[in-house]
Amino acid sequence: MLEEARAPGYFPFAPGQDVRDLNRPHIRRPGHSLTNIRTALQVVDAPAEFKGGPREGRAFDVFVGYTLLDALIANRDRHDENWAVLEPQLGSLPQVLAPTYDHGSSLGYNLPGTTRDRCLSDVVALERWATKGTAHRYEHVPPPKTLVGHAVEALHMGSPDTAKWWVEQVMSLDLSEILEPLERGCIPEMSAASVKFATALLKLNLRRLQDAIRDHG
Ligand SMILES: Nc1ncnc2c1ncn2[C@@H]1O[C@H](COP(=O)(O)OP(=O)(O)O)[C@@H](O)[C@H]1O
Ligand SMILES: [Mg+2]
Repeated sequence: MLEEARAPGYFPFAPGQDVRDLNRPHIRRPGHSLTNIRTALQVVDAPAEFKGGPREGRAFDVFVGYTLLDALIANRDRHDENWAVLEPQLGSLPQVLAPTYDHGSSLGYNLPGTTRDRCLSDVVALERWATKGTAHRYEHVPPPKTLVGHAVEALHMGSPDTAKWWVEQVMSLDLSEILEPLERGCIPEMSAASVKFATALLKLNLRRLQDAIRDHG
């Protein structure tokens, strides 16, 4: 998508490789910026299920929601092959942003048990760990922004009416719909400690997002 949109200085993601622009060697993930993503999505519609505003040419407004989701679930893996545009087979139909996918690298999936237990017994350690959730898959000069900071930046780059709608969604989000089934063991593969960690992390990240939105005004 970014290649086709001829995003300036864009180099495609290559798994396991640290792709660099020789003309801008200090820049990481060159070209995979919110500005370029917004440009590439200008002619792309929001998915049919989107309730936050008009759909035509509004894919970026939904992408904003992906950045909010990533901040909530601590997904650091939103590289340029972890979002997509669905191409219709008929030229007369619009391109549509694909539903979000590949959230495997979320909720501290690879956290050693000792770190997880420390985070569970010490809220400062959890907060320190959560702050290390960075948007390192996007163009940046190190150090990368936090996922929360990145999401708030994206929020203010979308349409103002939809940004207002997203703010309402985040401010009124009730996690109990997810947390109650989780605590009741609806995912048998998850250990009790993983459930506890996911619960604490989601609550903390929601609070961090809400605080950042308030601070931004
Ligand atoms: N729902 C989807 N919509 C569009 N493309 C998808 C979707 N799911 C997977 N893909 C395509 O398949 C690729 C691999 O899927 P992904 O879920 O990212 O798994 P992996 O863990 O292998 O990265 C993606 O990079 C994307 O090109
Ligand atoms: Mg993937």
